[in-house]
Order: sequence, then structure tokens, then C-alpha cells
Amino acid sequence: MKSFPEMLLCCSSDHKPIPLVGFGTAVYPLASSETMKQSILHAIKHGYRHFDSAALYQSEQPLGESIVDAIRLGFIQSRQDLFITSKLWCSDAHPHRVLPALQNSLKNLGLEYLDMYLIHWPVSSKPGKYEFPVNKQELLPMDFKSVWEAMEECQNLGLTKFIGVSNFSCKKLQLLLATAKIPPAVNQVEMNPLWQQKKLREFCEKNGVHITAYSPLGAKGTIWGSNQVMECEVLKQIAKARGKSVAQVCLRWVYEQGVSVLVKSFSEERMKENLHIFDWELSAQDSEMINQISQYKGCAGVEFISDEGPYKSLQDLWDGEIV
Ligand SMILES: NC(=O)c1ccc[n+]([C@@H]2O[C@H](COP(=O)([O-])OP(=O)(O)OC[C@H]3O[C@@H](n4cnc5c(N)ncnc54)[C@H](OP(=O)(O)O)[C@@H]3O)[C@@H](O)[C@H]2O)c1
Repeated sequence: MKSFPEMLLCCSSDHKPIPLVGFGTAVYPLASSETMKQSILHAIKHGYRHFDSAALYQSEQPLGESIVDAIRLGFIQSRQDLFITSKLWCSDAHPHRVLPALQNSLKNLGLEYLDMYLIHWPVSSKPGKYEFPVNKQELLPMDFKSVWEAMEECQNLGLTKFIGVSNFSCKKLQLLLATAKIPPAVNQVEMNPLWQQKKLREFCEKNGVHITAYSPLGAKGTIWGSNQVMECEVLKQIAKARGKSVAQVCLRWVYEQGVSVLVKSFSEERMKENLHIFDWELSAQDSEMINQISQYKGCAGVEFISDEGPYKSLQDLWDGEIV
């Protein structure tokens, strides 16, 4: 099996590198467990080695079952061949709930450890529910310091190789870095040619935080995304000139920015297409054209904005970093 590019995470020479293309498992509307399992198995067969799941996505159990099947079918030798991420949902983002939440994710996955455990959003909610959108009356401020200490305990116990965050602005990362004993290895955020994250990328690079890009195709067809990326005229023009698809142009662009990328497709053809981004490159002119695209944030996080909650506006949630 052909292997795809990987990158060492900061301070991790003794750990497995992160494969730069990962497979997303957030599906809208929710798929059956069997569909998810089959899709993940196809993805392993075609060479994906990095899988992104979350307590919220209900994908942990099918992912775990696919890993067992993939080993049985000889697609991989062992669990060590894979890089597995899961995430702490808002309702578990309370210091005493973090370790039990990770233990529950491991039980769902049938694994002894994760490669990466992330705080899903910088917000907590009333314990007990795994739903999106979160009931706005149940949103609560997150105690970053204590929640992060509990994440650190998870890594110290060997239950996850790395810990990180998702949907954090530079300002929130700075806050976390000020008291963290273990710095976050990753910030998983929306990134595509229409939301290029230049400021956040610069900040993360300076601080040794690796970026993983989600919704690289704009998550069309979901409640958190739109068709804007796939329908972008500049991207269509570049795709036509290169003889590639718009999806491949998006994925190649993200890859050329030196970050890792997660892409979801449950179609076997499209999951193969999405891996064909390594044997060609964008020209300087293509990159310049992409640089000039007007910026539009697809996954704004309006679901986390409420008059009674910790964030009263999108400016609060993203600390003014969305303009
Ligand atoms: N941390 C977070 O808050 C967060 C938020 C969002 C996503 N994520 C993670 O990132 C992963 C990827 O992002 P995403 O799922 O939001 O969006 P995405 O990967 O940008 O887009 C997925 C959509 O594009 C379609 N698609 C995939 N490949 C295609 C191709 N070659 N041509 C045309 N359409 C294609 C898929 O449909 P088909 O399946 O029919 O191909 C699906 O509708 C998620 O699955 C999840 O694991 C994390």
C-alpha cells in the first residue's frame, strides 16, 4: 500500500507522526452505524490512516468495529498503523467529567489509547446531553485552566498520546498556553480557500501548535457548511485548467499550507479522488488567485451565541478574529 505524507508534532520525536490527510466522520443527517462502518473500512482499504471522530458524532463505535475488521481483512497490521482522534463534547467539558468522558470514548472505540484527544469547542454546557446545536439555555463558560489540567492528566495516564483543542482563537490559545504544563499539540479549525486562517496559522506556527483543517470543501450539504467553497468560480477555473476537481484543488491548497486536513466522503469514488493530491502542485499563479479570494467563514458557530451564555456575539466567540 502506497503511504501518504505525515508530519511530526511538536516535541514528539518518540511518537507516531500525524498523517497529513485524515478521514472525517461527522455526518449530517446522521448515517446508520453500518453505513459508517462500511465507509470507514473502504477508507482504510484505500489508504487513509488518520481518522477523526468525536463523542458527538456517534462514530466512535463504528470506527472501532471497522478497525477490528480492517485488521482481520489484512488492510492494516494493527491499531498502531492508525492515528485516531476523538473529542470532548461541551457537556463533558467540566474538570471532573474529562477523564470519564475519555474512558467512555475508548470503550466505544474498543481501544486502549487515542492518538489525539481534543476539546471540541471553547464552551461548556449542562452535563448529560450529546447534541448539536446545544440548547442555548444550557451553555456555560468553560473553566479553561481546570479543564486543561484534566486533559493533561489524560495524557499523563497514557490514555491519549497527545491533547489539543478545536475552534480556539489566538486569544483563547494564548490563555491556555499561559498556564498549560503540556501545550496543546493541535488546534483543529475550519480552513479552506474561502477561510484561510492566515492570522491563526501564523500564531500557531510561532507557538508550535499544529493546525488540522476541517471542512476543507466547505462541508456542503451539512447544517454547519454550505456550497460556497465548491461553487467558487476562481476554484472552478483553476480546477478546469489543471484537469482536477474543485475538491482536489481545495485539498491540495490546504496541504501546501503545511497543515493536516480532514475530509469526509462516504462515496468510495470521492474518497479515492480526495487522496490524489500528492503528485501534482498548484502554480504560483493559482496560489496567488486563491490568496485573493474574498473570505467567508462557513462554520461561524452561531449555535454557541446566546444572551445568557458565555458568548453574546460571534465577535466574543472568536475574539474579534473573524473579520
Ligand atoms: N472540530 C470541529 O468542530 C469540526 C467541525 C466540522 C468538521 N470536523 C471534522 O472534519 C471532517 C471534514 O469536514 P466536513 O465533513 O465538515 O466537511 P468537508 O470534508 O469539507 O465536506 C464534506 C462534504 O463534501 C462532500 N464531498 C467529499 N468529497 C467530495 C468530492 N471529491 N467532490 C464532491 N463532494 C465531495 C461529502 O459528500 P459525500 O460523502 O457524499 O462524498 C460531504 O457532503 C468532519 O467529517 C469532521 O470529522 C470537525
